[in-house]
Amino acid sequence: MTLRVEVFASADWADRVAGRLAERIAADPSMRLCLPTGSTPLPVYERLPALLRERDVSTAEATVVLLDEYLGLPAGHPARCDATLRRALLDRFDAAPAFVRFEVDELDPAAACQAFSAALDRIGGLDLVLLGLGTNGHLGMNEPGSPVDAPTRPVELAPETASAARGYGADPPPTRGVTFGMGPIMAAPEVWLLATGERKAAVLQRALNGPIDPDCPASYLRLHPNAAILADDDAARA
Ligand code: PGA
Repeated sequence: MTLRVEVFASADWADRVAGRLAERIAADPSMRLCLPTGSTPLPVYERLPALLRERDVSTAEATVVLLDEYLGLPAGHPARCDATLRRALLDRFDAAPAFVRFEVDELDPAAACQAFSAALDRIGGLDLVLLGLGTNGHLGMNEPGSPVDAPTRPVELAPETASAARGYGADPPPTRGVTFGMGPIMAAPEVWLLATGERKAAVLQRALNGPIDPDCPASYLRLHPNAAILADDDAARA
């Protein structure tokens, strides 16, 4: 159980990560992929559709699963995670992949989590989970305090998580969300944690070298049998 850390020059990071993801999808076009929102993956998403087009790889048979969602924002709100992922990536593919997300408009939060987990069971689980690293060490909306076996569930957001929604006009920002749980993240066969920029340097060091405990859910990945951190050199600088 070693957490692999791969560091790329900042100028190359997005090309390298997008290239690696395109390779994976080319090797298994029906792959089931959990994807985050947030600013970190945006340059990867920017590049991915063209890379797949160049290789003549279709995403028609793929399944994209959304990592988490805010509660309290209406359908179509630009700050919603589903809207953000559609805009940044899904709408730019030539062929729409299947999209599993939290049905927070139709169901109450607990039922939306159950339906999400049932949908994952129906597709037979995930092949790969991509995550961003919160400045507070969260993964998805598994905030500090989350146990390693936390299920997919409704959560209260840490203030710094909530304020990320402000940039898309959610003001006041949502205070609650639903997230793919820490437990099922740990059970996924492969996890890539993306981390870029100086503002992630301290938390990345904490995740790698501090105690493995609920104060920093990202530290749990050191217990995962097949997890990698894909960082740029600004985030990896100790
Ligand atoms: P960021 O957020 O990619 O916008 O830095 C990551 C996260 O908080 O999960």
